[in-house]
Amino acid sequence: MSHANLAPSPRLFKAGAPLTGRIRVPGDKSISHRSLMFGALASGETRVRGLLEGEDVMATGRALTAMGAHITTRATAEGEEYLVRGTGVGALMQPETALDMGNSGTSTRLLMGLVASHAITATFIGDASLSKRPMGRVIDPLTLMGAEFTATPGAKGAQTLPLTMRGAYPAVPIEYRLPVASAQVKSAVLLAGLNTPGITRVIEPVATRDHTERMLTGFGAELEVEEVDGERIISIRGEAELIAQDITVPGDPSSAAFFVVAALLVEGSDLIIENVGLNPTRAALFTVLRQMGGSIEELGRREIGGEPVADLRVRHSQLTGVEVDPALAPAMIDEFPVLFVAASLAKGRTVTTGLEELRVKESDRLNAMAEALTSAGATIEEREDGLIITGTGGEPLRGTANSHVTTHLDHRIAMSMAVAGLASKDGVDIDDISPIATSFPNFMALLEQAQEADTAE
Ligand code: S3P
Repeated sequence: MSHANLAPSPRLFKAGAPLTGRIRVPGDKSISHRSLMFGALASGETRVRGLLEGEDVMATGRALTAMGAHITTRATAEGEEYLVRGTGVGALMQPETALDMGNSGTSTRLLMGLVASHAITATFIGDASLSKRPMGRVIDPLTLMGAEFTATPGAKGAQTLPLTMRGAYPAVPIEYRLPVASAQVKSAVLLAGLNTPGITRVIEPVATRDHTERMLTGFGAELEVEEVDGERIISIRGEAELIAQDITVPGDPSSAAFFVVAALLVEGSDLIIENVGLNPTRAALFTVLRQMGGSIEELGRREIGGEPVADLRVRHSQLTGVEVDPALAPAMIDEFPVLFVAASLAKGRTVTTGLEELRVKESDRLNAMAEALTSAGATIEEREDGLIITGTGGEPLRGTANSHVTTHLDHRIAMSMAVAGLASKDGVDIDDISPIATSFPNFMALLEQAQEADTAE
C-alpha cells in the first residue's frame, strides 16, 4: 500500500544526542529504478544486490511486472537479492490496468520512454503530488518519435497525469536537444531509442546524472558519448540487445546527504556513513559543504558496479555561508532542501540561484523550504530562482513553536526539516513523515541508531 492511502503521521524532531558510530544508507534510487528497468528488457536473469526497497522503486517494479517482466526476491547473507527475468528489448506487453506511479516522477518519465517505442497502450496514474508535475517535457520528444498521448478525464491539464499513451512501432529516431537539464527526459528519449531502428541522439547542453549511459553500456547497448563545445552528445543504436547483468547498487548520496548535514550541525557528532555513491554527476553537495567549512572525509575510495564509492566520515563543524555556483546545481539537484537547512545555521549569507527546476519537484521545493524554515525561525528571502539565507552562526533555530511544517507529500522536505529539528531549541513539528518511505524507508531507524551509538560506546 502506498503512503498516500494511510493517515498522515505527524512527528516532532528535537535536539538529541550527537550522531556517532557507523551507518549504511539504502541503495541509490536512480540506479535501483534503472536496474529493474534494464533487467526487464534484457535477455536472461539480472541479479540486483542492494536495491532500494522504497515505494518509488516498488512502483517501477510493479509496472514492469504488469508489462511482462518476472521479478522475484531471494534472501542472501548480505540481504535481499532481486532477480529480474527480462522480456528482451521490444517485447513488453500491454498492461491490463492503469500503471500506478505513486509519488515517482522517475518511474513515470522513464517508463513512458520505454512504452513509447512499443505497440502498446498504457495509462499512467499517480498521487496528488505527481499529478501536478509537468509531463510536457517527455510528451514533446516522445510525440516526435511517434507516440500519442491523451489526457484522461480527471486530469488537471493536458500535460499532467492521468495520461494514456499509445506507443509507436516502429518509432522514429530523433536528435533531441534537451530544453531543461533533466536526466529523466534524457533517459526517456534514450530508452525509447532502445527499440527504435537507427540512431537516437540526445544533446545535453548541461550534464546531468549519467547512470542511464553507464548502465546501458554495461548491459551491452551500443551507446556513444561525445563532448562537443562543452555539450554532451549521447547516441544510442536501436533494436539493441541487452544482456542480463549482476548489479550491486551503491548507497544513495541523496539519502546520505541528510545524515551528512545532521552530523555537521549537531555538536559532538562524528559519524561514518558507509558505501556512499560519489558519481561526479551526483556529489556536488559534498563539495559545497566543504567550501562552507564542513569536515567530510572520504575513506576507502573504491568502485562498485562501475560507480565510485567511499565511506564518509563527517564531524561537527562551524559552517560559513557561500554563493553556490549555479553550474553545480544539476549535480546536487535533490540536495538543495537539506543544503538550505545547513545554510540556516551557517555564519553569514548563502545565496543560491538558477534553481527554477526545484519548483517542479515532488513539491515546489523553494517555496516549501522557505516557508518551513521561516516557521522554524530561520531568515530566508525567497527569489524566483533560489533562496537567500542568512544563517544563525551556529545558534540553534528557534523551532516551530506553535505551528507545524507542511511536507506537501515530499519526502525530502520531511527529512530536511527533521534535520532542522535536531538543530533547534523547541523542535520541529512535521505534519506527515510517511512520504519518507518513498526513498528512505529506514530513515527513522538509522537516526535512532546514530543517536544511540553515543550512549552505547
Ligand atoms: C532522477 C533525475 C532527477 C532527480 C530525480 C531522479 C533520475 O530529476 O531529481 O530525483 O533518476 O533520473 P530530473 O531529471 O527531473 O532533474
